[in-house]
Amino acid sequence: MKYIILVFALLMISVTTYAQKLSSSNSELELSFKLKSDGTPTYSLNYKGKEVISESKLGLELVNDDKSLLDGFQIKEITSSWADETWKPVWGEQSEIRNHYKEMAVTLEQPEENRHIILRFRLFDDGLGFRYEFPQQKNLVYFVIKEEHTEFAMTGDHTAFWIPGDYDSQEYDYTTSKLSEINELFDKALSHNASQEQFSKTGVQTSLMMKTNGGIYINLHEAALKEYSLMNLNLDEDSLTFKSWLTPDAIGNKGYLQAPAVSPWRTIMVSDDATDILASNMNLNLNEPNKLEDTSWIKPIKYMGVWWEMITGKSSWNYTDELPSVKLGETDFSKAKPNQKHAANTEHVKDYIDFASKHGFDALLVEGWNEGWEDWFGHSKDYVFDFVTPYPDFDVEEIQKYAASKNIEMMMHHETSGAIRNYERHLDTAYQFMNKYGYTSVKSGYVGDIIPRGEHHYGQWAINHYLYAVKKAADYKIMVNAHEAVRPTGLRRTYPNMIGNESARGTEFQAFGGSKPNHVTILPFTRLIGGPMDYTPGIFEMDISKLNPDNNSHVNATIANQLALYVTMYSPLQMAADLPENYEHFMDAFQFIKDVAIDWDESHYLEAEPGEYITVARKAKGKPDWFVGNVNGNSPRSTKLKLDFLEKGKNYEATIYADAKDAHYKTNPQAYKISTKKVTSKSTLKLKSAAGGGFAINIIQK
Ligand code: NOJ
Ligand code: CA
Repeated sequence: MKYIILVFALLMISVTTYAQKLSSSNSELELSFKLKSDGTPTYSLNYKGKEVISESKLGLELVNDDKSLLDGFQIKEITSSWADETWKPVWGEQSEIRNHYKEMAVTLEQPEENRHIILRFRLFDDGLGFRYEFPQQKNLVYFVIKEEHTEFAMTGDHTAFWIPGDYDSQEYDYTTSKLSEINELFDKALSHNASQEQFSKTGVQTSLMMKTNGGIYINLHEAALKEYSLMNLNLDEDSLTFKSWLTPDAIGNKGYLQAPAVSPWRTIMVSDDATDILASNMNLNLNEPNKLEDTSWIKPIKYMGVWWEMITGKSSWNYTDELPSVKLGETDFSKAKPNQKHAANTEHVKDYIDFASKHGFDALLVEGWNEGWEDWFGHSKDYVFDFVTPYPDFDVEEIQKYAASKNIEMMMHHETSGAIRNYERHLDTAYQFMNKYGYTSVKSGYVGDIIPRGEHHYGQWAINHYLYAVKKAADYKIMVNAHEAVRPTGLRRTYPNMIGNESARGTEFQAFGGSKPNHVTILPFTRLIGGPMDYTPGIFEMDISKLNPDNNSHVNATIANQLALYVTMYSPLQMAADLPENYEHFMDAFQFIKDVAIDWDESHYLEAEPGEYITVARKAKGKPDWFVGNVNGNSPRSTKLKLDFLEKGKNYEATIYADAKDAHYKTNPQAYKISTKKVTSKSTLKLKSAAGGGFAINIIQK
């Protein structure tokens, strides 16, 4: 492993208003830092000689403080350094990651207050990260943030792929529009509930993907979000400048910091090739190295679940429909009348275990196994889960033994209903219960308003909790996949037992009406920038009324598209979400899900355009075999795929799972064609993808 860091310092004794410049190693990006005449810090960013971020202010406004950290600054010191190291993730898109950047750290002093902060900039070949640092000092001990005032000034009316600003949910379809159109489209984009009342109608969430009229791709996000509130972006329409807009707490404050402290990194990725945005490791590199000493127990997981039948309304999480008010620990469920729809019953779970085992899966998730689901949809919060009491028809010991005999690990489910303190009180006993019964991973969930404090899902308090739950899980050697938690910002590097997150509109929305067919061509540019998603792909029966006659939803994808997702949506946690009986009808297509790898040595992003298509090739970890996936947006598309990523001089057999000629996500989603072909690194494949379609290819070395 190569590791070099050099530091040198320039001491600037006097105030300087000259721009300080830093260029990336490949010379494509140039950062300028400057103080305005009133001592307000600003930065700008050029790409290939063109401005991509024009002069933008930096600073923080504090509560109860006459002087905020906004202006009146002088430069005290500037240090420069660089790093070039290679590190190995426990799991990931590639087995080695290069972290290569140039750094400039500017110490800014407010002389009258006799206090200072540091602005640390890291310039990579594919983007810029910067953060605020608050060193320990006499005159800045602890403080409350009223608002962070970081700006990202755009240079034109770019096309943006956006979801509305929100303090509690990212589960939206994306809207594609010009920046100047966000305001008028905002209400339409708000498909549901949540907490937008306090929000302006030009607020959007990150990761925000944009494309300029000149064909430059810009992505704004954050890295290493810890002990701080999530940043939304609010667009000033006149100047086309995004301004940071932190998530408030229950009383409107935006963060409580005690020095020494740092903000998350604010990130700007830039390239004229969209595939560079998908290939970037900048977000991960801005996070701290792995803090877990022993990682031998952390493993990628391919799993099935007793789940889709609940989400579609075919069966239920709750055991009985009889109880208007249930008191946890008091209600005797063995005396209650079962509703006959409770899916988490021992016999049914065993059927799933049989199927998952027969087809080589690692694990099985079962939801609705524990007492308490009678009320959770109502969120009356009269009672909450204890995470250790199974319903009478779920024999935890019997299921555990049966699963072990079939080489299947059981995946735990903890729905917290947003009752975070209740969950924290039960966390040790819940994890001990998992250890006792051999559960090695947990899917947790935070549906509903956060209680008891009336906080938001993306405020500092809740964000502290999500990481607390992950760290404590590591003590018990448990992997965590949290739904409805804050969207990832690369923390998986530091805590690799955080193997999944939802935090976006996943497949479940296909059972609540349907998602836009091009949704999956946008997610890798947005939600996945910070880390993997438990998207739960693999739906083969698109007509949901076949599962539940009362549900008219339609899954807007072809079967070939669903297969491709295992490659295009990188995750160490991949689910085959449909019911066994739906797979039984298409066992030849199901073979791809059985074969596809879930950990990788290399990833090559072959072609991509947000909203339109993505084609990715990945090499299975420790094996010579490759998997290729293509997802396609709203219109049919043809492509010529060069297989020059294959090892030269070797022979391979490709099995191609493609849309049939007449396939279409709406009218003919189950039409696919499987073919095989001998290929080498010199081969080119001509392929066609239907609207909402795609292809998946398995390339085995012979
Ligand atoms: C929402 C999650 O996204 C879904 O996967 C889960 O089944 C329900 N909450 C219940 O916890
Ligand atoms: Ca969800």
